[in-house]
Amino acid sequence: TVTAVIMAGGKGERFWPKSRTNLPKQFLNISGSKSMIQHTIDRLRKLIDISQIFIVTNELYAELIHIQVPDLPLDNIIIEPIGRNTAPCVGLASIIIEQKFPESTMIVLPSDHIIENEDGFVHILKTAIEVSSEDNNLVTLGIEPSYPETGYGYIESTKEIRELNSLEVHKVSKFVEKPNIGTAQSYIEQGNYFWNSGIFVWRNKVIQTYIKKLMPEMHQILEDMKLSFLTENRNETIKKLFPLMPDQSIDYGIMEKVDNIYVIPCIFGWDDVGSWTALERINSKDDNGNVIKGNILNLDTKDCIIESNGKLIATLGVQDLIIVDTEDVILICSKDKAQEVKTLLKELRTQK
Ligand code: GDD
Ligand code: MG
Repeated sequence: TVTAVIMAGGKGERFWPKSRTNLPKQFLNISGSKSMIQHTIDRLRKLIDISQIFIVTNELYAELIHIQVPDLPLDNIIIEPIGRNTAPCVGLASIIIEQKFPESTMIVLPSDHIIENEDGFVHILKTAIEVSSEDNNLVTLGIEPSYPETGYGYIESTKEIRELNSLEVHKVSKFVEKPNIGTAQSYIEQGNYFWNSGIFVWRNKVIQTYIKKLMPEMHQILEDMKLSFLTENRNETIKKLFPLMPDQSIDYGIMEKVDNIYVIPCIFGWDDVGSWTALERINSKDDNGNVIKGNILNLDTKDCIIESNGKLIATLGVQDLIIVDTEDVILICSKDKAQEVKTLLKELRTQK
């Protein structure tokens, strides 16, 4: 069996003020006609049945998921009482999925990425599933990097490359999560690095083995949970034991520390929609390089991203700005500060 774990606990803070704590990015309609998580589910439906899809999320969003994906079995929504980053998210999903599907291959993926070529995506996943069935392989989908982004994981490929289903499968020599800018630059120059897309494929048994070896503390909590599941209600168990989990991402906790990684380079049109400037990559621009949505009048305005929520936004003689109007907040931000929108939120919270 193949199962999928959609990680949907993120807060999408760099997309504030459109993305809010009670309605983060993955539940918004950023591109296309549906929310990002609905698009994610639809892509997976081309490969597996909805009963094989699991979503791990914060308790704040369980209801929202049920509304947006009404045919997802309620048991497949795994609720975290508190965010502990992606390693505990994967660990928890792994022991819950094992109860229903004792031997499954897991696709682990984010809820809020844009993927253009869905058939290409499914073909690559099928190939990744094949590679993960050999030995103790962990497979990641890699993206050809275009600039030294420091917010991504980097995957160094070796010369050990084979062809499978008309795709390349590269043996990985190292995985480096979020390098500094100098290191990222040198990786780009060397040319044999990929970005980690954050989409992983492995057998459930295999990831459990690595968790036991590399994150023993988390493994122990998962074992305690399994025991508790026998006598206690699932949600009660999670509420009680999940907060004890270490705060760790799967990238730092596991991927940086293992040898058996393979990467399949992907050319399916990928974007993780990390911040407002992503809109320039995924939407068309007007003749002056502006990306505009809604009721907008602009004169002598260049390279701006402007989104109205109904009210007319009129601009004159401005450049390189992000302007976003929502019901209660207006954001005006220089484009080169797009990554730092989070700091506004932090400041807001300290003032409250
Ligand atoms: N359930 C749950 N609980 N989901 C979470 C949690 C959590 O505590 N924390 C994050 N997620 C979800 C996010 O919603 C997102 O879909 C996914 O897990 C990845 O988390 P991010 O916080 O977005 O990770 P990142 O962007 O810093 O880095 C990861 O993604 C990059 C590509 O977008 C890494 O895997 C990098 O290596 C990778 O390059
Ligand atoms: Mg991300």
